[in-house]
Amino acid sequence: MTKIVTEGAATSNPKLLAWVDEMVALCKPARVHWCDGSQAEYDSLCQQMVEAGTFTKLNEKLRPNSYLCRSDPADVARVEDRTFICSKSKGDAGPTNNWMDPREMKATLTALYDGCMAGRTMYIVPFSMGPLGSHIAQIGVEITDSPYVAVSMRIMTRMGQKVLDVLGNREDFVPCMHSVGKPLAPGEKDVAWPCNPKNIYIAHFPDDRAIWSYGSGYGGNALLGKKCLALRIASVMARDEGWLAEHMLIVGVENPEGEKTYVAAAFPSACGKTNFAMMQPPAGFEGWKVWTVGDDIAWIKPGADGKLYAINPEAGLFGVAPGTGAKTNANAIAACRANSIFTNVGLTDDGDIWWEGLTDEKPKHLIDWKGRDWTPESGELAAHPNARFTAPMAQCPSVDPDWENPDGVPISAFIFGGRVSKDMPLVFQAFNWSHGVYLAATMGSEATAAAVNQAAMRRDPFAMLPFCGYNMADYFNHWLSIGRKLSNPPRIYRVNWFRKDENGKFMWPGFGDNMRVLKWVVDRAHGRGYGVESPLGFMPRHEDIDWNKLDFPAEKFYELMKVDRDAGTVEARAHEVHFEKFFDRLPKEFVYERELLKSRLWRSPDVWELSPSE
Ligand code: OXD
Ligand code: MN
Repeated sequence: MTKIVTEGAATSNPKLLAWVDEMVALCKPARVHWCDGSQAEYDSLCQQMVEAGTFTKLNEKLRPNSYLCRSDPADVARVEDRTFICSKSKGDAGPTNNWMDPREMKATLTALYDGCMAGRTMYIVPFSMGPLGSHIAQIGVEITDSPYVAVSMRIMTRMGQKVLDVLGNREDFVPCMHSVGKPLAPGEKDVAWPCNPKNIYIAHFPDDRAIWSYGSGYGGNALLGKKCLALRIASVMARDEGWLAEHMLIVGVENPEGEKTYVAAAFPSACGKTNFAMMQPPAGFEGWKVWTVGDDIAWIKPGADGKLYAINPEAGLFGVAPGTGAKTNANAIAACRANSIFTNVGLTDDGDIWWEGLTDEKPKHLIDWKGRDWTPESGELAAHPNARFTAPMAQCPSVDPDWENPDGVPISAFIFGGRVSKDMPLVFQAFNWSHGVYLAATMGSEATAAAVNQAAMRRDPFAMLPFCGYNMADYFNHWLSIGRKLSNPPRIYRVNWFRKDENGKFMWPGFGDNMRVLKWVVDRAHGRGYGVESPLGFMPRHEDIDWNKLDFPAEKFYELMKVDRDAGTVEARAHEVHFEKFFDRLPKEFVYERELLKSRLWRSPDVWELSPSE
């Protein structure tokens, strides 16, 4: 096997070299660059993008070693309707995924890839999801024609020569093919953000463990280690190998005595996941600390001791910028103080960035995310609602000292929470593992349709709806089987920060005060706190929550926790409809869980309320 003579990193891995040869012949790039992951390489790619008009270097004093990037306004987010799971059988993709026959998809994409990198550089990006060499980690190699992807992957993953060294001649890397789908004709001038938004495909081949992406350069469509590998492909690996790949944050909760408890939590988007992952305990919780292991993805494996251990497979934060400010999330703001990339935010006159919610006061003048002059009177958003900061995890002040522990951290509790304005209590604990799996599988979140002022519920089981790489009913069964193998399974909880009163006002302050709920969760996980049996699960009484320095009367708390029998029954019936599409693969346990829920509700008063005497 001859070694390809190119610039950059080196490998003699026969399978990798053969695949790259094949892709070079297909995509016909002008140059091939193997990413070594060095600072010099990063700096030179960023400089190249400054010259191409893709990047703007930010003020070195205000935001050292950082760049602003503006994408094409037609390429700003993940595209779920162009995301495909190409398993051999349609049934294995299940009713919640788009499916295409793998042979058909490969034929379509091979035709599109033919010559797609003409005039461009092909970057070979070797990366590790998880600490290098960890037994929980996986190696991927992304081939891309986007230098933006190459530099972003250096922040988001462990990337470069060191990964090739760990891989050696092993064949078990995940090949991740990516092109922006915009070949250059000889002499054609490039645009700042090449893409092909009318022809996007984000295709996954679970049987081959391969990813083929075409047409988009943005986020999860293009940084293939994140949603494509770490969730969709990894969920299939996890099913086959007996572990879990989850859309979850991981935090370590430390009490004043120094006891640390790790909790993993799944929230659908727009539910404050990043804020929860970097929570700052409120006044009254001096001596408590919430440490961040991960903000988006958790890979979780059963250990020999019968417990679950989790790693964060990522090395960076790809956070939604708007709404993130020093008051709401000081840790995220500190994490992107330097060495960061900002995509689709505003540019201030002194060469720094701004977005809605970064500061209370709006700058007098900006260049907006579309490159136009902006003033507070413009009546437009300075930043796109899905604008992002890409920042090294290690720069987050709350990063857990064990966040790179190759063996992971032990998980004691799982939390699931959507955005529900009515009838869903603040917190309750599942009666047991299978009830907890049921709570997660029926999780829903509201997308408020402002025009009609109505809340429509989108069911997002385990917050995995767009990310499960196989039939979701099989995924529920997999969760049930994992629980059976554990001698001391984590406790499972549902939370809801978003219940509103009859005047439409949020009943719970949220943010740092969520610490009060987290403390009860942790206490229960250690078998310490008290829980009353309600129709929905075990609930804390007012006196079981730590109210230090917050005036939250018992009546208000019980209002927040009450269970309406009729509303609960309507919800249980909605579960039946939600599960209909999973048909014959649905776990039998779910039928019983639903009937038990209905029976508990039937035997309750019209309105079930906690009371101080409980
Ligand atoms: C994300 C998402 O970007 O979940 O993390 O959509
Ligand atoms: Mn996510």
